[in-house]
This record gives sequence, structure tokens and C-alpha cells, in this order.
Amino acid sequence: MKVLKISNQKFGENAILYSLTNDNGLTMNVTNLGARIVDLIVPVNGEKRNIILGFDTAEEYLSKDMYFGATIGRVAGRIKDGSFSIDNHKYQLPVSPENGHTLHGGPESFEAKIWEAEIEEKSNQVSVIFSYMSPDGEHGFPGELKARVIYSLTNANEWIIDYQAETDQPTLYNPTNHVYFNLTGDVTQSVGEHELFVDADRFAVVDSDTTVTGELRSVDETPFDFRESKSMNQVFETRYEQNNLVDGLDHPFILNRTGFDQPQAIITAPKKDLSVEMYTDRPAVVIFTAQFGEMGPEVRGEKLVNHGGLTLETQVSPGAVEFDGFGDIILYPETIYQSRTIYKIN
Ligand code: GAL
Repeated sequence: MKVLKISNQKFGENAILYSLTNDNGLTMNVTNLGARIVDLIVPVNGEKRNIILGFDTAEEYLSKDMYFGATIGRVAGRIKDGSFSIDNHKYQLPVSPENGHTLHGGPESFEAKIWEAEIEEKSNQVSVIFSYMSPDGEHGFPGELKARVIYSLTNANEWIIDYQAETDQPTLYNPTNHVYFNLTGDVTQSVGEHELFVDADRFAVVDSDTTVTGELRSVDETPFDFRESKSMNQVFETRYEQNNLVDGLDHPFILNRTGFDQPQAIITAPKKDLSVEMYTDRPAVVIFTAQFGEMGPEVRGEKLVNHGGLTLETQVSPGAVEFDGFGDIILYPETIYQSRTIYKIN
């Protein structure tokens, strides 16, 4: 297995594209701009299918959407009013002027940084090790945080993401990856006919700002019950207050179990010729269905349709700094942050 480094010229100033290919002919392209996945190209019945949303140049990420495929940090999702406390010390983050909250660690966070990158090649997997040092006080967060995100492609058709971090002061840390899957490889087709399985009995209710309200609700008798694989259209086409509010899914699902024995989520392509299994040690997954409506960007030459992708953002559920029962995202200097998520392509 090999990692090929593609010249900066092709991708953009300071941004390098790394191309990883496994022995089954599966190719994953990643860039140091935002420690991001750009392409995931899978051979299906003799054809090559790109199953994630991404752009051809660094410039397009800057002008269209910085979150596509990126590492998100320091804190994924919304922090209500941008405020939190650690050990009775109150912190205020800069907030968005539109709604007064802080999304994905604030603008130009991890997704916009040029990360250092190192390549590691082994017999059964190839990896790119991204590192970024977030200075003390960056975007209002305390502590100097040294973050590493390792992307590996294995011969078992797994894309493994390993997150590691350490801080020199108590801080918050809750990273994720913002990849959008569309297993048809066609961005003009919505994910409505994809099937989704999620091993979650409960989801977090959101309000009209898409911040969590503190209520964890049973999925029983709601269109959010994916404990048996179901089509996404049953979400898009039902009148249920929670999905009508955000035009689809933009919700944290609380996973019934974590670990790597069984998948916590599975996306299946409409023709059932491809599926992606997700395994994680994180307690929740935020699923966002790309409801960009008319604002959908052009993706590799085609306009992205509404609901043209689906994210599986593994993390501790947003709301952890406000509500009991949502988990804990405080990182102390004594602890090394470590977590893993695997997407396995079948
Ligand atoms: C998601 C978030 C959405 C939207 C999106 C970025 O993670 O939940 O509400 O902001 O990121 O376009």
C-alpha cells in the first residue's frame, strides 16, 4: 500500500493533497487544509464511485463550504450563547451575530488551519498523521492544545480516524469529522432512498436555533427510529415537529453501545450495492442531512441537490456543557484525549 503526495500546485497555496490507495483499489484523498477528507473513491461493479462530497481545489472550500469533510474543533456543534464554565471559572467565546451561539469552535477553527502532515506506511495500512497546535486562548478557549488526527486506510476497506490531544490548562475538547456521504456518487440525487440504521433508543431534541433543549427523547413511534434499517425518505416525508423544524435531520443520537464489535450506524445505498458501517467509542452521533435547499454549492461540476448528503459526526452530544446526562467534554492536563471512529466500506 502506498501514499502518494500530490503537488501543492494542484490543490492550493500551502494545501497538499495526499492520495492513499489500498490493495483493493479503494482511494482516499485527504488534505492538510483542515485535516480533511476530499474524496473516497470505491470500485463498484467495475466502476469508480466517489461516495463523499468534496471539492477539487482548496480555493473552493474557502469560497463554498469549509466544513465538508473537515476535522471540526475544538468543540463540534453549538455551544449555546458561547458560554461555559470549568471548575467555577466562566468563559465567553465569540458568538455568531446571527443567533448568538458558537458553532464548530467558531469561524476559521480546525477546518481552516493548515495542519502539519506526516506519512506512515505499513504492510496492511497507510496513514497520514495531521497535527495542529491550537494556542492558549484561541477563539476564547483556555489552554494550549496539541491536537493530532490520524487518518488510516486499511486493506479491510476501513477509514480509521484516531484523535489524540493534550492541553496545558483545563479546557473543552470534543472534535469530530464533518464528512457527507452520498453512496450513489451522484450529487444530484438526494439521500432519500438511502437506508439508515442507528443503534440509538434516544435523540436530543433541538429548538429552532438547532441548539439542544436538554430533553433526550425516545425514538419510539417517531421517524427517528432507525433501530431497524429504514429509508431516509420516511424522515423527509413525514410531518413530525422535530424534522419539520430543521427540514430533515440535524440531531444528536445517543448510542446504545460504543466500541468496535458491532456497528452503531450503517448507511446503505439505494441499489444496495454498497454500504458504510460506522464504529465508534464516542457516546453520540450527530446526523445532518445537508438541507442547503437552493444554497447547495456546485460539487465537482454538479449542483448539490437538497438533502444531497448525510453526515455521521461522532462526538459527545452538544449540550454537554449545560445539561447533566449529556456527557463530559472537559479535558484536563493530566489526561490524554484519545478516541477512534471507523467507517468501513462494504
Ligand atoms: C452541522 C450542524 C448544522 C450545520 C452544519 C454546517 O454539524 O449541525 O446545523 O451548521 O454543521 O453546515
